[in-house]
Amino acid sequence: MLDARGIIAALRDGRGLPGDAAGWFADGLASGDVTDAQGGAFAMVVFLNGLTEAERVGLTLAMRDSGQVMEWSLPGPVVDKHSTGGIGDCTSLLLAPALAACGAYVPMISGRGLGHTGGTLDKLEAIPGYRTDISAKDLHHLVADVGCAIIGATGDIAPADRRLYAIRDVTGTVESIDLITASILSKKLAAGLQALVLDVKVGSGAFMKTMDRAEALARSLVATAEGAGCRAAALITDMNQPLAASAGNALEVLEVMDTMTGNAVNQALWDVTVALGAEALLLGGLASSVDEGADQLDEALASGRAAEAFGRMVAALGGPTDFVERYPDRLPAARVTLDVPAPRGGYVTEIDTEALGHAVVHLGGGRLKGGDRINPSVGLSDLMPIGEPLAAGETIARVHAASDADAERAAAAVLAAFRIGSEDPDEPPLIHDRITL
Ligand code: URA
Repeated sequence: MLDARGIIAALRDGRGLPGDAAGWFADGLASGDVTDAQGGAFAMVVFLNGLTEAERVGLTLAMRDSGQVMEWSLPGPVVDKHSTGGIGDCTSLLLAPALAACGAYVPMISGRGLGHTGGTLDKLEAIPGYRTDISAKDLHHLVADVGCAIIGATGDIAPADRRLYAIRDVTGTVESIDLITASILSKKLAAGLQALVLDVKVGSGAFMKTMDRAEALARSLVATAEGAGCRAAALITDMNQPLAASAGNALEVLEVMDTMTGNAVNQALWDVTVALGAEALLLGGLASSVDEGADQLDEALASGRAAEAFGRMVAALGGPTDFVERYPDRLPAARVTLDVPAPRGGYVTEIDTEALGHAVVHLGGGRLKGGDRINPSVGLSDLMPIGEPLAAGETIARVHAASDADAERAAAAVLAAFRIGSEDPDEPPLIHDRITL
C-alpha cells in the first residue's frame, strides 16, 4: 500500500521512488489527499537527494496525467517551444506563426511574467481584445484552422504541478533541476506534442546564470522529454543582454511586428527564432536538416506568411482584424517617454539584464504581487546592445512610463544597469550550445 509518508521516507533513505509512487503522489497533489506539509517534504527530499532519469520521467508523466492530456489528428506535426525566460525575449510571438506557415501545428500554452522575466500571455494581452482563456475545444479548432494558437493553460492542465509549484515557491525548493524539469514538461506534454524545442537562457538576465547550470537543465529537459516519448532538442541562448531592443509588453509586440512585417527587422530576434524553429521542423519531420529548416523559416518570415498567420490568430482570439496592417495605431502607448543619456563615451561593456527586468516590473509592466494589474504600455525601448560604441550624451535606452516620477526612477535603474568602458568588448554569441540526445 502506498502512502505519502512511505514515499517520502523511501526517497530520504535512498531507496528511490517505488513502483507507481509518482502516479500516486501526483494524483494526491491534484486531489488534495497529499497535504502541503507532505508536498513540501517531497519537494525538499527530491531537491536534496535528486531523482534518477527514469524517476524524473515517471514524475513528469505522472504530473502530466494528473489532468487533461490533449490528442490531435492533424495533417502535420504538433510542435512547440519553451523558453526558461528572459528580458526582451519575444521569440514565441514570431515562432508560433512562422512554424504554422511551414506546415507545423503549434498549440502554444504559455505563461505570465515570472519574477523579473516577461510573460508571453502578458505581451499578447497588450493587443486590445486578445483573449488567452479559451476552452480546449476552441483551441483544437483554432490550431486546425490557423496552425497556431498562443493561449493560457486551462484549469485542467497538470493540476499536480500547479499545487507542487505553489508549495515549492514557499519551501525553498524552486531551484531543483529535477523539479523544474518535471514542472515545465508536465505542462508542455499535456498539449499532446510530438516535438519540443527548449530555449534555455543563460546569463545576467536568466534564471540560470552559469553555463554549468544551463547545460544541466538543458540535458535534463531533453533526456526527460525524449524519455516521455516527445522528440526534443535544446539551444542554450544568451541572456547577458535583452534579446530584443525593447522590454515591456506592447513595446515587444511592436518590435515583433516590425520584424515580422519587415518594417524594421531586429536581426538577433530573427536569428534566434529561426534557429529554434529549425530544430522544431527537424524534430517534427518537416525538414531533413537544421539548415533546410532555417531556410524554410527565413522564407516564412520574409514572405509575410508568418505575419499573415499571426494576424489570423489575433483576429480569431478577439483582437483587431486589421492588426498586421495597423499595429502601431492599435497598441497602447505610454503617457511619458524619457531618454536615458550615456554619462560618458566608450562602449557598452556589460548589462545587468535582470535589473532591467526589475525596472520594467516597477514601471508596472510586471507584477510585484499576485493579482497586480499590468500596464501594457510601459517599459524600455531602444536598448543599446553590448559592444556598441557611443558618445557621451547618446541615448542608451528610452523609458516609457505612466508618470514623470516613474520615468525618473526607471531611468536611474537603467543607468545603474549599464556598464560603459573604454575597451571594445567581445560581444556574447547569440547561441552558446546545442543539446540533443
Ligand atoms: N517554470 C515552470 O513552469 N516551472 C518551474 O519549476 C520553473 C519555471
